[in-house]
Amino acid sequence: MLNRKTAPVLVHDTLLLFGATGDLSQRYLFPSLVHLLRDRLLPTDFRLIAIGRQDYDQEGFKSWLREQLPDEATRNREAFNDLLARTRYVAVDLSDSEQMSKLLAEFSDRPCVSYLAIPPHLFTPTCEGLQAAGLLAEPSRLVLEKPIGHDLASSRFINATLRGFLDESRIFRIDHYLGKAPVQNLLALRFGNTLMEAVWHNRWIESVDILVAETAGVDGREGYYAQYGALRDMVQNHMLQLLALIAMEPPGSLDADSLRDEKRKVLRALRPMTPEDVARDSVRGRYQSGVVDGRAVPGFDHPSDCETFVALRARIDNWRWAGVPFRLVTGKRLAQRTTEVVVSFKPVSHWIFDRPPHSGATPNRLLMQLQPEENIELGLMGSLAAPEWSGTELQPLSLDLGMSATPQRRIAYERLLLDAMHGNQALFVTGDEVEAAWSWIDSVSEAWTTAGVHTKSYPAGSWGPAEASDFLPVSVPSTKRPVRKA
Ligand code: BG6
Repeated sequence: MLNRKTAPVLVHDTLLLFGATGDLSQRYLFPSLVHLLRDRLLPTDFRLIAIGRQDYDQEGFKSWLREQLPDEATRNREAFNDLLARTRYVAVDLSDSEQMSKLLAEFSDRPCVSYLAIPPHLFTPTCEGLQAAGLLAEPSRLVLEKPIGHDLASSRFINATLRGFLDESRIFRIDHYLGKAPVQNLLALRFGNTLMEAVWHNRWIESVDILVAETAGVDGREGYYAQYGALRDMVQNHMLQLLALIAMEPPGSLDADSLRDEKRKVLRALRPMTPEDVARDSVRGRYQSGVVDGRAVPGFDHPSDCETFVALRARIDNWRWAGVPFRLVTGKRLAQRTTEVVVSFKPVSHWIFDRPPHSGATPNRLLMQLQPEENIELGLMGSLAAPEWSGTELQPLSLDLGMSATPQRRIAYERLLLDAMHGNQALFVTGDEVEAAWSWIDSVSEAWTTAGVHTKSYPAGSWGPAEASDFLPVSVPSTKRPVRKA
């Protein structure tokens, strides 16, 4: 767990959930609230105002919810009924701020957290309604889901609009990857160990790989994906946040400002990509039909040239990382679901062994798998058994720290909901970070257009287009890598 700032904690107990009938609420937000109630982690007087477009009465909404939630959530019968008892449903048309303010004003009796799980074009009218209802008055807070814009210009516009309603200290932008315990463990590993931080430098590190591979497809989000593609959907936020955590300087403390200032510096130091760079250092892909987990799946057909796979070689222009490539690879409908970071160290500078020869030595590697399992593996060279010939023969060994026995897996949103209610911003993204990330993403996307970098196809269930083979981390065995057809 991250430390909390020592400032007095002001816990809000009213949560207004906009988009209560949407997919995110059903899959993650309601189940998270059930778990938090089960574990008695929510404030005693917690109340939920669920806001949606559908015209349900209280009973109608509750029975709809019972039908929609995953079984696991409703099986927690006591906690689920407790949540229902604390929930009021309000049907609101978000484009009508006047109506909204009338219907919601009664909840301004206590400071609240308004969570906007809604499309970005509704942010402004919703904030207008909230403000008119007195629900954005200090110390109330606002939580937003991605995407915060489509490019730098639109993200600046959204951020400026939000700051017209409330200041940055009360805006909580979600990147759900930051709520994942294994992602927070990256900080623990880096800054809780002398061993790591001492070698975390271009002097000792050769390259860094970040892989977020999914077996899921675009499924049902074709329209959104056609506009965003994997670059904007995955790299702009989740992957650049992982990169920032890996590459940032040690913060003075874990309070929100110290941590986020260091991440922002990394994002600003990303070298913009030129048309020459993207021709060499990027690959875009789009999945065709294929077989994933033994099941035949269709391809993603769309007239636009949006990508479902992207591989990039990024550079960070600062003292610590000069010369170290960061390879970022993400894709849908890949062979296996895995999120991992691989840090490859430089080869030993002077080799004194006969077997294997220097060229046969495997450089040290730190592999951190974040999901679906949490594992840490350190690749070393050693000689455990004396060979029959009287010499020393080295072989790759691996030091495994299996983390699967961790006490309880939590949904990332559990942590983020709690932090928003407690006012802890450390795991939320600042407007500056969002804009720095978009600025780099824009450089990639503009360079793609200028250089004419189009998507290459790959069969669902593979590791992406053949052109991306060299971007994949060593954890993808060579036998599984895509190969170019002769
Ligand atoms: C979301 C993206 O932000 O993250 C999805 O919009 C993606 O396209 C998802 O599937 C991945 O999240 P997770 O937690 O399943 O790795």
